[in-house]
Amino acid sequence: MDDIDKKVAFITGAASGIGLGIARTFAAANIPVAMADVRIPELEAAAAAIARLGARVLAVPLDVTDRAAWVAAADRVERELGPVQTLCSNAGVNFIGATQEATYQDWDFALGVNLGGAINAVRTFVPRMIGRSVPGRHSGHVVITSSVSGLFTSGGSGVYATSKYALVGLAESLRADLKAHGIGVSVLCPGPVKSELFESTTAVRPSRLAETGSVPLLPPGVAREQTPIFVTAPTGEDVGQHVLRAIRANALYILTHPEIRPVLEARAAALLAAVPATPVDPARIEASQRLLDTSLYDTARA
Ligand code: NAI
Repeated sequence: MDDIDKKVAFITGAASGIGLGIARTFAAANIPVAMADVRIPELEAAAAAIARLGARVLAVPLDVTDRAAWVAAADRVERELGPVQTLCSNAGVNFIGATQEATYQDWDFALGVNLGGAINAVRTFVPRMIGRSVPGRHSGHVVITSSVSGLFTSGGSGVYATSKYALVGLAESLRADLKAHGIGVSVLCPGPVKSELFESTTAVRPSRLAETGSVPLLPPGVAREQTPIFVTAPTGEDVGQHVLRAIRANALYILTHPEIRPVLEARAAALLAAVPATPVDPARIEASQRLLDTSLYDTARA
């Protein structure tokens, strides 16, 4: 895993919160970081703070939904910092509201950033990473930020949960497909974390997608400091430490909140309870070998 520790990392949504926490953790480990975000003053301030720690850092203005801009950003980073072998697709937005009340514009906005941004990241960087990777060695890594909302839901945020469940599918599939290339994939599923997600979602929403049936995570006039879920949450840097450890261990899942265990158990039990107890034709099992392969999950804790 030492290979990864020397390579350049590209992190989206790096101006604050979890992305900034990952950038700080990487920089403290001497990993050069390209920090991408669409909020440019916040990005520049964050990158300057990291540069003051003595780290190699580049601030990259980027809207993750802009496919042409991705290519230019990747070219610039590879020219100025070197080849990227660690990709952290982390930029995201969040709002709440009953699923059935979300407008098309809510769907387009959140799926465009949360899922579309990750697809663009993969389409841009993974072919470049494959070209430089060494099969049989852990020579590249992709981290996709999903959420606990990608693992279970209690309603009230169906647009967000849809995007985050999709990211778990993207990460798991990509991990299976990149294994032969020596590139690991992890999916980060944190619970509540201190960040600027309330403010940034409002700030980055384009006016053409303004019509909404949802509400901001933090209603106007409510201070974050009075919101227990925020006050008790870990920091972005706490999450960054989990991410670096998971990359080094090439772990599939990065979970940060032990309190989610009972919910995961309940969901797994509900799924298992729904499996029909009827006998299956062995020929059908034989014909489904590829579909029924468990190796992705067997090695998840490798
Ligand atoms: P944050 O607001 O501090 O960071 C998100 C960053 O993404 C912001 O800097 C924002 O400007 C950027 N961003 C948004 N749209 C963008 C776009 N189109 N192009 C480029 N950058 C864009 O919030 P946080 O919480 O650190 O969010 C990071 C990720 O973590 C998100 O994917 C979020 O869904 C996820 N997450 C957050 C949790 C939390 O409780 N804070 C819990 C679980 C997951």
